[in-house]
Order: sequence, then structure tokens, then C-alpha cells
Amino acid sequence: MIERTFVMIKPDAVLRGLVGEVISRLERKGLKIVGMRMIKMSEEEASSLYSVHKGKPFYDELIRFIRSAPVVVMAIEGESAISVVRRLIGPTDSKEAPPGTVRGDFSCSKSMNIIHASDSLDNAQRELSIFFKDSEVLSYSRLDESLVR
Ligand code: CMP
Repeated sequence: MIERTFVMIKPDAVLRGLVGEVISRLERKGLKIVGMRMIKMSEEEASSLYSVHKGKPFYDELIRFIRSAPVVVMAIEGESAISVVRRLIGPTDSKEAPPGTVRGDFSCSKSMNIIHASDSLDNAQRELSIFFKDSEVLSYSRLDESLVR
């Protein structure tokens, strides 16, 4: 099933010049970028995105970190995009992330872990709606789309 998911390149990746590398991995996998913007996240956007973590010991630090520098927010579309992207980026704790995954290749940290991606269809819809209006998500076909079955 074609799914749409929310992906965010985090401040650590932006400050380390890894934006192109991360986007390139998503594109080369065959995923389609249907929305993209670089932003400095507001307090409201950050607390809405991470509302499920409110009250956890790392919450304040997480909000501070995510607002410390620009992030790149993206709407990504593709076959089973939610699980495909999650496998591509690796587990939250980058120390556990296998080589070949984004986190496995570029981070050793649980908090500065390069990238965020939605973990379910419901969360994808909720997270996308925080950052994108419907009109900001674009419709087009990749030339290689017909090769993916
Ligand atoms: P992310 O995929 O953005 O979703 C929630 C984020 O909280 C997670 O990646 C980590 O960056 C962060 N996080 C989760 N658990 C911890 C933890 N124990 N310590 C610090 N940060 C955490």
C-alpha cells in the first residue's frame, strides 16, 4: 500500500552538513519527497510533535535540542513508506543501529540521532498535519515509479 509518512532531519544532521546525504538515501531507496521545508521549530510545534514524551526525563532536553538549530521537515511517500523509512534509519539508540542505516552510519547517540520518522499511520497523519497544509503536499510521479511493484 502506498503510504505517506513524516520525516524530519534533526539539528545535529543540519549542523554537521548531512542534509544532502540523508535526503539522498531516501531518494535512492525509491521514496518520493512530496513536501519539504527547512524551519526553526516553534515551541508549539515541538511540544505537539513530542506530546507522547511529555513528563519523561528526557523531554525538556529533547525540546531544547530540537529547537536549537534548523530542521528539515518532509512528507515522504512510497510503498509501505512507514516501515521502509523506519528500517532505513535504524533504531532510536544509534549505538544499537546497524551499519548501513542512517543512524548506524552517522551517530552514536540516543538524543542526537540525526532523523525522526513516524512509527504508525496515525502518527504520520498527526505529525504531517503539524507541519504541512494539504496544499503544501504535492502530487507528481517519479520516472522510476512504474518499476516498483
Ligand atoms: P525520535 O524518533 O525523534 O522520537 C523521540 C525522540 O526522543 C527520539 O527520537 C530520541 O531522540 C529521543 N529519546 C528517546 N529516548 C530517549 C532517551 N532515553 N534519552 C534521550 N533522548 C531520548
